[in-house]
Amino acid sequence: MTKQRYTITTALPYANGPLHLGHVAGVYIPADIYVRYLRAKKEDVVFIGGTDEHGVPITIKAKNEGVSPQEVVDKYHNIIDASLKQLGITLDVFSKTTSPTHRKTASDLFVKLHSEGAFTEQVTEQYYDEANNQFLADRYITGTCPHCANEKAYGDQCEKCGTTLNATDLIDPKSALSGNKPVLKQTKHWFLPLDQYEPWLKQWILEEHKDWKVNVYGQCKSWLESGLHPRAITRDLDWGIPVPVAGGEGKVLYVWFDAPIGYISFTQELLKNDPTRKWEDYWKKEGNSKLIHFIGKDNIVFHCIIFPSMLQLFGDYILPDNVPANEFLNLEGEKFSTSGNWAVWLHEFLLDFPDKTDVLRYALCSNMPETKDADFTWKDFQAKNNNELAANLGNFVNRAFVLTHKFFNGAVPALEALEDLDKNTLAQAKEFNTKIADSLDKFRFREACSELMKLSNLGNKYLADTEPWKIKENPERVGTILRIALEIAAKISVLGSPFLPETTLKMARWLGISNSEWSTAEADFLLTDGFTIATPQLLFTKIEDDAMTAQLEKLKASRAVAQEATVSVVPQKENVSFEEFSKMDIRIGTIVEAEKVPKTAKLLKLKIDTGIDQRTVVSGIAEHYKPEDIIGQQVSILVNLAPRNIKGIESQGMILMAENSKGELCFVAPEKAMENGGGVR
Ligand code: 2FM
Ligand code: ZN
Repeated sequence: MTKQRYTITTALPYANGPLHLGHVAGVYIPADIYVRYLRAKKEDVVFIGGTDEHGVPITIKAKNEGVSPQEVVDKYHNIIDASLKQLGITLDVFSKTTSPTHRKTASDLFVKLHSEGAFTEQVTEQYYDEANNQFLADRYITGTCPHCANEKAYGDQCEKCGTTLNATDLIDPKSALSGNKPVLKQTKHWFLPLDQYEPWLKQWILEEHKDWKVNVYGQCKSWLESGLHPRAITRDLDWGIPVPVAGGEGKVLYVWFDAPIGYISFTQELLKNDPTRKWEDYWKKEGNSKLIHFIGKDNIVFHCIIFPSMLQLFGDYILPDNVPANEFLNLEGEKFSTSGNWAVWLHEFLLDFPDKTDVLRYALCSNMPETKDADFTWKDFQAKNNNELAANLGNFVNRAFVLTHKFFNGAVPALEALEDLDKNTLAQAKEFNTKIADSLDKFRFREACSELMKLSNLGNKYLADTEPWKIKENPERVGTILRIALEIAAKISVLGSPFLPETTLKMARWLGISNSEWSTAEADFLLTDGFTIATPQLLFTKIEDDAMTAQLEKLKASRAVAQEATVSVVPQKENVSFEEFSKMDIRIGTIVEAEKVPKTAKLLKLKIDTGIDQRTVVSGIAEHYKPEDIIGQQVSILVNLAPRNIKGIESQGMILMAENSKGELCFVAPEKAMENGGGVR
């Protein structure tokens, strides 16, 4: 039997923005801990990652920033790659789905399945923007949600009520490109007939993978029980991998068809010049590799249902052995939001706290959204650093080192006669090898992290119980106690290495051991008699309140900026001709009288000098201006709006107001005094 291998993948983030802590906690931290653990056990692993560079999110970002999609993905790929390296995420490869190898692999696999008749073809009707001559991706269509009447729902989802939509469900649809009403036009696409694989998927997941995490199994079960439908795997877009078969002109592969193939093509890139290993070893059945996908819960269906169906069709490929998907991490009680700028960006965290990468790894691991959503708060981050890492682990190691220097000039003391407490403590410490390994084997990262802290607790308690600093007459006894404490520290440096790589490496160097092999911790004693350990330094420094307050303020300030910026995304209205525009008679006027309209909250009755006359206008600005403050204010007024009766008052025109995303209003007025009656054009 071929030796066991492991193919570990991390979800490919869209290269349309940097990573935030939600991505890190959900995917990269668990994956890296798991891989470091496997490598420490001397397992044969490839650890694969990269960026997802196709699809509509990229084109939208490019359009918003006024640059090409390639420029967008290159920029964010580099930011993401650098931040992951700095966090100590030890991916073997971090590539991109715009790479030539990926393009070829995805294209070839599509052709192979197409020629084997694996796809079905369907002509469907899709929205088309006639002004721009292009089909519209669902995200490029906005309209009114049929469920909650939100006027800004997207063609794939209403972000207000969370309902998944089809673009054709929208009431009064508009193209985000031109603002025009799109028309329905026929288009042909290739489909993956998922309905055909339903019986096989049911057997494979529901019967053979009862071991998957409850949240993952549950989501799959619900998909499978509601019945699978053929899924389009091509799109009418100009950004992506061209559909490589006849009739595919102007179309690209659906981003969710090509992205997971990235795991395969990146492995090919990684091993192309490796004389000892082939990519097939990690993807074909004969390689005997366990495929494990680390992802967030929004990717479950793609990794448990769609990609396995594709792998099955590719032929002799392995299927995922496990998909330990996490739920979501929230931030200060609210969902992370890239567009709303409610996020702690990884690269910014690393700039603000360059020496706290292990602290972040620990904070996110011990609070991982493993079985339900979790919340990241700066207060909790501070508490984990100060109360757990500094006060527990750091303090224990420091005490053991300081005392060894004080009583033995830093030389590792020999063990003499063991008392019951010593034997008991050593036996308990030994149990942590299997406790932590068991938790990691089951993808229970929070539990593993808490076991590590318990090991350090054990060390602290042992020192507190034995009080070696009080023993005056018996240096052998003091030596034995300190040796046991140092042995616990050594064990922490091995068993803690997947979680706290920098800290534990430092500890191992100070103690004169190597911590790179898990089996090292199996030995009864890891240290060498007489080795001079390093002069003690603090492993963790306290984080003060000020630093946390500054982070909270930064977060709130960036959200305010984002809210202001969202005004620009309101799609434009339908075109009007110049003749139509010219019909509007807009002039400069001055408010000469203002009073509240009784029994209303919003209305003011204004008298405006229009240069033609003095006329009454009722305006909904009472929540923004006090009547006494606006006498003498110049305004722009539409004077030929047909008179309207508002609350029993005839309103003879309308004043123009500017509005921001918070609904705040201000006058649209000339920037210097102009005579009343002057035209606005
Ligand atoms: O949800 C996302 O961010 C996707 N870009 C994940 C892709 S994972 C894989 F299939 F490539
Ligand atoms: Zn809605």
